Amino acid sequence: MSETARLQLGDQHIDLAVITGTENERALDISQLRNTTGLITLDEGYVNTGSTSSAITYLDGEKGILRYRGYAIEEIAEHCDFVETSYLLMYGELPNAEQLHDFRMSLRRHTMLHEDIKSFYSGFPRDAHPMASLSAVVSALSTFYQDSLDPRDPRQVEISTHRLMAKLPTIAAFSHKKSIGQPFFYPRNDLTYCENFLNMMFAVPTEPHEIDPDFVDAVNLLLIVHADHEQNCSTSTVRMVGSSDANLFASIAAGICALWGPLHGGANQACVEMLEQIIADGGDIGKYVDMAKDKNSGFRLMGFGHRVYKNYDPRARIIKGVCDRLLAKMQRVDPLFDVAKELEEVALKDPYFVERKLYPNVDFYSGVVYRALGIPVPMFTVLFAMGRLPGWIAHWLEMHSSPNKRIHRPRQVYTGSRTRKFIPVEKRA
Ligand code: SDX
Repeated sequence: MSETARLQLGDQHIDLAVITGTENERALDISQLRNTTGLITLDEGYVNTGSTSSAITYLDGEKGILRYRGYAIEEIAEHCDFVETSYLLMYGELPNAEQLHDFRMSLRRHTMLHEDIKSFYSGFPRDAHPMASLSAVVSALSTFYQDSLDPRDPRQVEISTHRLMAKLPTIAAFSHKKSIGQPFFYPRNDLTYCENFLNMMFAVPTEPHEIDPDFVDAVNLLLIVHADHEQNCSTSTVRMVGSSDANLFASIAAGICALWGPLHGGANQACVEMLEQIIADGGDIGKYVDMAKDKNSGFRLMGFGHRVYKNYDPRARIIKGVCDRLLAKMQRVDPLFDVAKELEEVALKDPYFVERKLYPNVDFYSGVVYRALGIPVPMFTVLFAMGRLPGWIAHWLEMHSSPNKRIHRPRQVYTGSRTRKFIPVEKRA
């Protein structure tokens, strides 16, 4: 007999099955709660609510563990590049040599955008935030690939996922070029995924462009550590939109919009802006730590805290290492990195942060690396989206392959007016 939990309400009780996951996480199955008791649950922000079961990513927030398909993030970061990591997330297994080669070649053949898409960019204002153009162009891809929108046709799904993986760096780089008034640089099939992105971002027609292998390594690592993170806000958005059988491009465009928020993926931009503000304000770390503790200040340490991690975010540790190595190789001192390290040191000794188990998260150091790579601040969250794309796709695929797939439609507790009689406008006060 599987374990159950008894819910007692007055003289009525119900036994709820306890579901146990691979790593012994436990959950109450409330799928029959309303049918049998008329009750629903209420959990603002889904702090205690699981939306699904998933085999893609495992987090242990207490221990600071992150695994993609069972492989520790530290091992993947050490042994894989982003394309191999993406294959693992999307298909569930590490590819053999032939599978990896075929995947790489497929992505390389789909990096170009339809020429008509270029005109989209001339419609955006020059200072348009690239997350706006990223979501708009991704959504518009559905109008160019009307032959591959059916989420139930495996062949159409495969071509759409490969097209999107291949084109997102091009869309991102075009946004950057638009913002600086430079001509778009087309993708090249002789370059690797990250080499291509850096080339499209920084090459100019007037001179040859050297792609720094250290920069390529840094981008690979940054994309890998952002690749998936189970049911976070943007991934849950992709699942929510996809649950209505909306096409892949529409689902991912919605995820991009959710990621844009400063409490989520937008925190990397907000964190660098916070560090710049601290420096401009004389570098008084204590003042900002005190502000972060003061509920009335409306200020938070961006890049700090996490819904799941109540320990050091393993991704922050990896990115901090990338920071250290890259700045050392560049023989560059970045005051932002120094302020970030000092801020971390002060916060991690402060009871307010210790009691609430607030640690640096993935967004705390990533912006410092992006700056060192020459990536402009508004593009930081775009790189987060590029990294998270294979995770979003993996969850979209997992949802569609689930026998329990249903359209997501949460319930609510109504707290508005009771029934009222209509009052014609001439009789209203
Ligand atoms: C990402 O979900 C994911 O997996 C996300 C992500 C991913 O890979 O997809 O990991 C990526 O989004 C990382 C998080 C990036 N956001 C930020 O860095 C923004 C700053 N952080 C916070 O706003 C906050 O920590 C969240 C949004 C990340 C988490 O919010 P929660 O879980 O709702 O926590 P909370 O706001 O209820 O905070 C709990 C307590 C509160 O204090 P009390 O009311 O208990 O006294 O901690 C405090 C908060 O005031 N707190 C902070 C703080 N974060 C939380 N206080 C100061 N500075 C902070 N950064």
